[in-house]
Amino acid sequence: MTTDIKQMGSPLAARMIINKREVDYFCGTSYYALHGDPRVIAAACKALHEYGTGPGTLMDSPPLVEVVARAASFFETESAQYIVSGYLGDMLLTQALSNDYDMVFVDDSSHYSVFDGIRSTGKRIIPFSHLDPEDLIQKLRENLKPKQIPLVMSDGVFPMTGAIAPLREYVKALAPYEGALLCVDDSHAVGVIGEKGQGTLEYCGVQGDNCYIAGTLSKAFGGLGGIIPGNNELMEKISHNVRIPAGASPPCTGAAAASAMGLKIVSEHPEMRMQLWDNVASMRKGLRQLGVDVPDSPVPIVPVTGLSGVNLKQVQHSLEEKGIVVAHVPPRGYSDAPDKESLRIAVFSTHTREQIDKLLASLAKLL
Ligand SMILES: Cc1ncc(COP(=O)(O)O)c(C=O)c1O
Repeated sequence: MTTDIKQMGSPLAARMIINKREVDYFCGTSYYALHGDPRVIAAACKALHEYGTGPGTLMDSPPLVEVVARAASFFETESAQYIVSGYLGDMLLTQALSNDYDMVFVDDSSHYSVFDGIRSTGKRIIPFSHLDPEDLIQKLRENLKPKQIPLVMSDGVFPMTGAIAPLREYVKALAPYEGALLCVDDSHAVGVIGEKGQGTLEYCGVQGDNCYIAGTLSKAFGGLGGIIPGNNELMEKISHNVRIPAGASPPCTGAAAASAMGLKIVSEHPEMRMQLWDNVASMRKGLRQLGVDVPDSPVPIVPVTGLSGVNLKQVQHSLEEKGIVVAHVPPRGYSDAPDKESLRIAVFSTHTREQIDKLLASLAKLL
């Protein structure tokens, strides 16, 4: 993915300074712009003053404890495991459950962290076609011996296209296999989709005993670090089967306090989610009116692609000249990027109607 962005000159915001110039910012993953929110910044600064950058050993600090409590409350689980990155979360989750399954079936366009995570388990890995439950059914039939237990893994929301994995269909495909598990990298969905913002499992209505997520606090929540919500049994499995929490330093105290504040803000202000969905609906509707094929969806990642005779790299540059920054994604330029170039528009809850209209009006002239 290229944005030609050199350097931020202000905290992240829907309107911010990049390369010494004030621009409308439609990139990245901070869907509520919380990374630049004064409450989040103040919480991080306070924690740094009170506790320094971190324990230096494996001690807990109040911000780390607060993240776990707030995450468990947000996801309505008994507990949660907080680690230094979302990237490592897929590894942590699939290693924790490694005694519970024999083989992994994975969407072939899943994020790099999903593949690195499942490879670390040493289990056999069978990729199935992107977003394709029929292919999953066939691969399950072809590869599983009687009594073998499958684990299915996928991104919940894909980072470049914003596609939502058909989790309900995956759960149906798994019904004949007793003990089958579903694990979802929900980095782009937590805090964003589902009635309570709990992510893709909630959105698809498949929350249950054998469904797990690895999320991140580094995107919608405005902080940093991976979060794996779950019951006490899962926490036991993590402590028995996974070395990351014991062998890696916890997130920096400032990052933890920022994450805790992000969780607090998203929990206490569901109206932010409604505003985000509203903005997403306006952007998607506006693009459809321009002839861009975008489905109705609450996901704030909106791709522009598949337009014949349009040079999207040129469109990105022209937008930038007008003070609007979007990302250009080359063909297959990221884990799930399509084989055609695309623009990736990230919608924030804090974008104004005027900003969205200006982007759409500019695109109307350029596409
Ligand atoms: C699908 C997905 N999973 C995991 C990650 C990594 O999350 P983190 O930045 O918290 O390490 C990303 C990062 O962009 C991602 O897109």
